[in-house]
Amino acid sequence: MTSMLAADSSVARNDLDDALWWRQASVYQIYPRSFADANGDGIGDLKGVTSRVPYLKALGIDAVWLSPFYPSALADGGYDVDDYRDVDPKIGTLEDFDEMTAALHQAGIKVIVDIVPNHSSDRHTWFLEAVAAGRGSAARERYIFRDGKGEHGELPPNNWTAIFGGSSWQRITEPDGTPGQWYFHLFAPEQPDFNWKNPEVHADFETTLRFWSDRGVDGFRIDVAHGLTKNLDPAFDHLKSVLSGQDLFEDGQHPIWDRDEVHDIYAEWRKIFNEYTPPRIAVAEAWVEPHRRARYASSEGLGQSFNFDLLQADFRAADFRKIIGDNLAFAADSGASTTWVFSNHDVVRHATRYGLQRTGAQDEAQIMNVGGKQWLLDGGRQDEVDTELGLRRAKAATQLMLALPGSAYLYQGEELGLQEVGEEIADEHRQDPAFFRNKGVEIGRDGCRVPLPWESQGSSYGFGAGGSHLPQPQWFSRYAVDAQEQDPASTLSFYRRAMALRHELQSAEELAWEASPNEHVLHFSRPGGWHSITNFGTTPVALPEGELLLASAPLEDGLLPANATAWLRA
Ligand code: GLC
Ligand code: CA
Repeated sequence: MTSMLAADSSVARNDLDDALWWRQASVYQIYPRSFADANGDGIGDLKGVTSRVPYLKALGIDAVWLSPFYPSALADGGYDVDDYRDVDPKIGTLEDFDEMTAALHQAGIKVIVDIVPNHSSDRHTWFLEAVAAGRGSAARERYIFRDGKGEHGELPPNNWTAIFGGSSWQRITEPDGTPGQWYFHLFAPEQPDFNWKNPEVHADFETTLRFWSDRGVDGFRIDVAHGLTKNLDPAFDHLKSVLSGQDLFEDGQHPIWDRDEVHDIYAEWRKIFNEYTPPRIAVAEAWVEPHRRARYASSEGLGQSFNFDLLQADFRAADFRKIIGDNLAFAADSGASTTWVFSNHDVVRHATRYGLQRTGAQDEAQIMNVGGKQWLLDGGRQDEVDTELGLRRAKAATQLMLALPGSAYLYQGEELGLQEVGEEIADEHRQDPAFFRNKGVEIGRDGCRVPLPWESQGSSYGFGAGGSHLPQPQWFSRYAVDAQEQDPASTLSFYRRAMALRHELQSAEELAWEASPNEHVLHFSRPGGWHSITNFGTTPVALPEGELLLASAPLEDGLLPANATAWLRA
């Protein structure tokens, strides 16, 4: 696997390097409402991000990805967008956005924003127009409206269940006050799906991509990238679990997921990305069969695609090795680099996942998008999580990830070793629609979205001068930034050191597996003599010759202990 630097010799080397900045970037995900609150109203804001740019710079990241900050009623944490080309007044203004972008750029940090093209919110002007304009109108053609079944249209067009539970169809009241048509929503009822067969929808998203690109945004994370185009032919009505993504078709003809024609959209978008210098980048959130990632990641498409395989894996050497090998090969097929990630705003934090008593705890039901968190309800109580073991393994896994070729995604708070907040969030404080619409089955994703502790004392632990929109447990104090900054043995100091070394050592996108003392140890090297060794086993192992650069846990008598990673220069 060599990088594509040689691909076009007519372009100056510097431009090329810049155009390829994403290939091995480390990207830090900010969930804006929970990062930092500058005006003390309990909700994180863009000025809060700006005020923490020095912190982000010290962490050594290359880019931030901001989850949606657009006007929203927050029916789904901002993934229900009222207006794609504005900032939610609850968290700032476009001027604040420009200021933030300038400050990040000044610090050498790129900016990636989240585009949510599968659905808008039900407060979007277009949706309001669609309801008001009535049956058969052009305005309704921007969404997916159908007449219901039954004598009076009182039954949904089919029995499909939405991802957040309940029917995937919602009935509206027509302008004349009578019960009316039904609209389709993959997620919550407040998130009506767009009709991507409509050219107006295409044109509007192109305007949005240009709007943010013109404002200096460096790239986009594309939400539910594999779901935009649909075939709602009644022939598929019998497929009950069609929305869960469990039964993906591999032929590109599934009624919802990963249809071949979705790539026509991304081919259009690629032309827009390439109008800019350097070209804007994009990364697909596409939960598809691994071998079908290449098309999302192609240089004629979005350019890169998330790979959630490590996030879904057990902490086991053989599993990690296979996933790494497979994904480097898939990436090579697409010409892109791969991405790695352990935590994000949709899953249980990895410091908690890895602390579950059962080693096989990482099955799909427990960590996936919204199917997750069951363990908190039926798998055990929070006090059954071994937080020490969890953090130890999380650090080992992250250090391994940071040595891999490709780009690494970090989620706010993982650099503090933060644990998931579990049952301490009372039902009346919960926000996630997955909790409300699927009560008793899912606890939802609020536990990884609790505002960050910046200070060990004081209101909302330094999140802001006021409260916190999701309650922070007392133990957050122990994880606060101010305490960790002073402590060379803290998780934060470990992350900073690892990121600095990654910058220094990262070179060509190549990896070679090295012999290891036993099957529970993974050892690989990168060009230039950078070695990464992880002990997934239970007994300490000897390290090869070389200069020790960093270890995720102290060596024991010169040996690498269980659940730890070491980097050597050899
Ligand atoms: C993606 C987001 C998730 C959101 C969903 C619907 O999976 O990551 O947070 O709920 O899309 O937009
Ligand atoms: Ca605020």
